Amino acid sequence: MRLHVADHPLIAHKLTVLRDVTTPSPVFRQLTEELVTLLAYEATREIRTEQVEIDTPIARTTGVALAEPRPIVVPILRAGLGMLEGMTRLLPTAEVGFLGLQRNEETLQAFTYANRLPDSLSGRQCYVLDPMLATGGTLVAAIEYLFERGAQDVTAVCLLAAPEGLRLVQDSIGDRADVQIVTASVDERLNEKGYIIPGLGDAGDRLYGVVD
Ligand code: URA
Repeated sequence: MRLHVADHPLIAHKLTVLRDVTTPSPVFRQLTEELVTLLAYEATREIRTEQVEIDTPIARTTGVALAEPRPIVVPILRAGLGMLEGMTRLLPTAEVGFLGLQRNEETLQAFTYANRLPDSLSGRQCYVLDPMLATGGTLVAAIEYLFERGAQDVTAVCLLAAPEGLRLVQDSIGDRADVQIVTASVDERLNEKGYIIPGLGDAGDRLYGVVD
């Protein structure tokens, strides 16, 4: 597993506003999109391209285009949806899949309740969107799911990560495949309820409000 903590003053600034408990949902959603676009820039540094010949108004030249098969972006429902717009702004031609994984709040184990993904992900670069890498259970389950469909190249974009979650991903995935985590910050630790400290609270609730 490779970890990339994006170190940029604009990222730190936007993240600080996201963390602030007084930031309302509309601002939180907007800033999440902006932050993800900045993280996506780092996350796609190794995106595959191929050479193409084009004509400018002046001359023929060689450039690059995204290679086939197209990359796939996989937001983890529900909070990952809040990251989709920010990611596809940078990668408008990517395919979009969905994975519904939920955490059992007592056991903290992740289970799949929905998916929409191509049967084969062989040769595809996969970008998983999950705002909070907390215990790591959800992300490990998502990555395993993608592996089962043939993925070998997975990048997870997370707003925040906890050391406990990073350890679980490292221990579970090891060097079986090329897995990269791109995040704006590695926070201190988890609390007894599995929330990241200092974190930003429940990302889904902050994006979409509390569902009773
Ligand atoms: N999920 C969240 O939304 N927030 C946390 O702090 C941990 C998991």
